[in-house]
Amino acid sequence: MLMYELIKKKRDGAELTKEEISFIIDNYTNDKMPVEQMAAFLMTVFLRGMTAREATDLTMAMVDSGERVDLSNISGFKVDKHSTGGVGDTTSLVLGPIVAACGGKVAKMTGRGLGHTGGTIDKLESIPGVTCSLSKEKFVENVNTIGLALMGQTAKLAPADKKIYALRDVTATVDSIPLIAGSIMSKKLAAGSDGIVLDVKTGSGAFMEKYQDALNLARAMVDIGEGAGKKMVAFITSMEEPLGLAIGNSIEVKEAIDTLSGKGPKDLTDLCVELGSSMLLISGIAASVEDGKEKLRNVIKSKKGLEKLKAMVKAQGGNPEAIDNTALLPQCKKEIEVLSEQSGYVEKINALEVGMTSLVLGAGRMKKEDIVDPSVGIYLKKKVGDKVEKGEPLAVFHTDGDMKKYEDAKKRFLAAYKIGPAKVPSPKFFYARVTKDGVEEF
Ligand code: URA
Ligand code: CA
Repeated sequence: MLMYELIKKKRDGAELTKEEISFIIDNYTNDKMPVEQMAAFLMTVFLRGMTAREATDLTMAMVDSGERVDLSNISGFKVDKHSTGGVGDTTSLVLGPIVAACGGKVAKMTGRGLGHTGGTIDKLESIPGVTCSLSKEKFVENVNTIGLALMGQTAKLAPADKKIYALRDVTATVDSIPLIAGSIMSKKLAAGSDGIVLDVKTGSGAFMEKYQDALNLARAMVDIGEGAGKKMVAFITSMEEPLGLAIGNSIEVKEAIDTLSGKGPKDLTDLCVELGSSMLLISGIAASVEDGKEKLRNVIKSKKGLEKLKAMVKAQGGNPEAIDNTALLPQCKKEIEVLSEQSGYVEKINALEVGMTSLVLGAGRMKKEDIVDPSVGIYLKKKVGDKVEKGEPLAVFHTDGDMKKYEDAKKRFLAAYKIGPAKVPSPKFFYARVTKDGVEEF
């Protein structure tokens, strides 16, 4: 096989075989191909797209480039969840515990935050003592005993993806549906669960801003997962404004604790119940979506989900008392209210800009090497549809006391809010549920 011929074949619109796709991925991953050939190939995929079969073969070739996590020593159906990333997305810290409390087995590999999106590991590790650097044995043991473990994704999972992603990043080929779907699914499939529920975000804070793109991505990922023998459900949900009220690390842990205590924001609670019910359904624990939701609401009411979070924190080296007494979580140096400069109704909140504001305060990373401050972040006081008077707080910033950072962040934050004269309805939140049987729009 000649790479030149394969680039030409794809350029001219023909379908590549499984062997051809494996040849490309193997050779690039093993440094046996000039980088300009891979760059050209990625551009042909970007422009020509891929069939569902090609995308599945691409994904499997990337899975085969590295290790697969062996979860065979965990009894029962292993279920995972993945979100395409948003702002203030506290979901995993709530979802894992409530699904585990209903008998689900959640063995979740997860990442750190980058850019405007936060990462579950950073959030969880803001609890004193907690580590997500678990050995595989400990990871499996914790899922068996508690039903839940969260572990940092190792570099050994889908190394081809890492290398290809770096090249996509500098060749304007990141936003291609088959390449994104392959990238996400290669890591999820290598992580070894039997079923995966995906939360594909759409809106101003999302990777896929337009609904149609998010839907196409969701379909592509469901096809790939089902093709690999997994049970798949994907939701399209809104990231038109940040999720919940807290954006940061320890303040999102507190929000998760509130939600697990039945006192969380409605959007976050509803999202966790919706995603969780599909996790229980594919696990064979719930008989229907409604049955799943009822089971989840019950473990929130009984605090059994909160107990699971506590058990996981303890098993991962943390201080479980911090769950009952959140004063033990990292506290910021100075809380400062950010006041509205206008009266009216909140019309729009640019979620991406709010994510960038929390990064300016120190809650996130611009580069991989940056260190996050677990104590800082933003607590929103107003969301879309809320009435606000001039001089009333739109948010409380949790800061490290650096007033220069605060002023920069405040400017950015105020520009992210659009306040108008008339009340607007809350943005639509649930768009669609996608399975192998089709798309159900809400
Ligand atoms: N997230 C990923 O992991 N890969 C992509 O290509 C895009 C988002
Ligand atoms: Ca939140």
